[in-house]
Amino acid sequence: MPSPADNIYLPKLAVLDRVVDEITDVRTFFWHFEDAAEQAAFRRFMPGQFAQVSLFGVGEFPASLPPSPTEEETFFTIRTVGSCSAALHALQPGARFGVRGPYGNGFPMDAYAGRNLVFVAGGIGLIPLRSCIIYALAHREKFGRIQIFYGSKTPQELMYRPDLKEWEKAGGIECHLTVDRGDDGWTGHTGVVGSLFQKEGVNLPVENTTAFVCGPPIMFRFVIMDLKKLGFEDRNIVSTLERYMKCGVGKCGHCCIGVSYVCVDGPVFTFEQIRKLGEEI
Ligand SMILES: Cc1cc2nc3c(=O)[nH]c(=O)nc-3n(C[C@H](O)[C@H](O)[C@H](O)COP(=O)(O)OP(=O)(O)OC[C@H]3O[C@@H](n4cnc5c(N)ncnc54)[C@H](O)[C@@H]3O)c2cc1C
Ligand code: FES
Repeated sequence: MPSPADNIYLPKLAVLDRVVDEITDVRTFFWHFEDAAEQAAFRRFMPGQFAQVSLFGVGEFPASLPPSPTEEETFFTIRTVGSCSAALHALQPGARFGVRGPYGNGFPMDAYAGRNLVFVAGGIGLIPLRSCIIYALAHREKFGRIQIFYGSKTPQELMYRPDLKEWEKAGGIECHLTVDRGDDGWTGHTGVVGSLFQKEGVNLPVENTTAFVCGPPIMFRFVIMDLKKLGFEDRNIVSTLERYMKCGVGKCGHCCIGVSYVCVDGPVFTFEQIRKLGEEI
């Protein structure tokens, strides 16, 4: 029997510490568990896993874990779309809510040791990938080249600004940003995220490389086409699938695609698996 702190099926009380505005309708919520043993147990999550967030009297929803387990703080980055996310957005520091997890398979980061890592994100698709990027940088010596390609519609919609600034300046990592439409203050690249692959000096490696792709469906579709043209095999492209979830632990069947439960078998899948599941892209 796991101790109550280690029991991932038990919802636990979390306290909201502070809130940071990211972009319109999207905020990052820093929180900690009231119980230190629960906090320590939770921080053993893997990049790509998720948690179920409870807003008392409102409901529960799944949220990715954008921090890396190598970081001290725990937080969610949430776009307000419906009743639960709106209730979270309405909380003030000091308020309590419930968290259970971590759930799902996560990215098998150890299996990528010795490989080049290419991260391709669009819009809020950077939320689940942030964890892998920070994790890979914390274990820099384990990986080959690390490249980040991130795009949003406008400069105002770029997420995690402090991280982006750091990644653009840091050694040992290549960070390329783009926006669909620039403004007077934008001096960077303009175009869809896949257009960055052709930018002078980028030279995307294909051999011994894993590409992580997360973003809206249209971006995903075009980036996959670009990567395939460059020679990427389906098994070397990984992503996270979003499905409507209720229990998050393989009981209710809400998230099923064919024989797979996205909450348990995923949310991380290779593109080879996504195609076998019959997902339309
Ligand atoms: C594994 C996983 C990780 C996630 N991580 C994050 C995250 O880090 N940040 C974040 O902002 N959101 C994330 N989401 C999405 C989030 O869980 C949903 O937006 C959730 O429905 C919000 O709850 P709500 O009560 O506010 O909205 P709801 O009232 O549940 O939904 C509002 C509207 O969105 C639709 N909807 C809800 N979920 C989905 C879905 N998965 N696909 C298509 N339409 C949907 C509903 O039908 C409804 O029309 C994640 C989802 C999954 C499955
Ligand atoms: S969400 Fe209930 S089975 Fe996956």
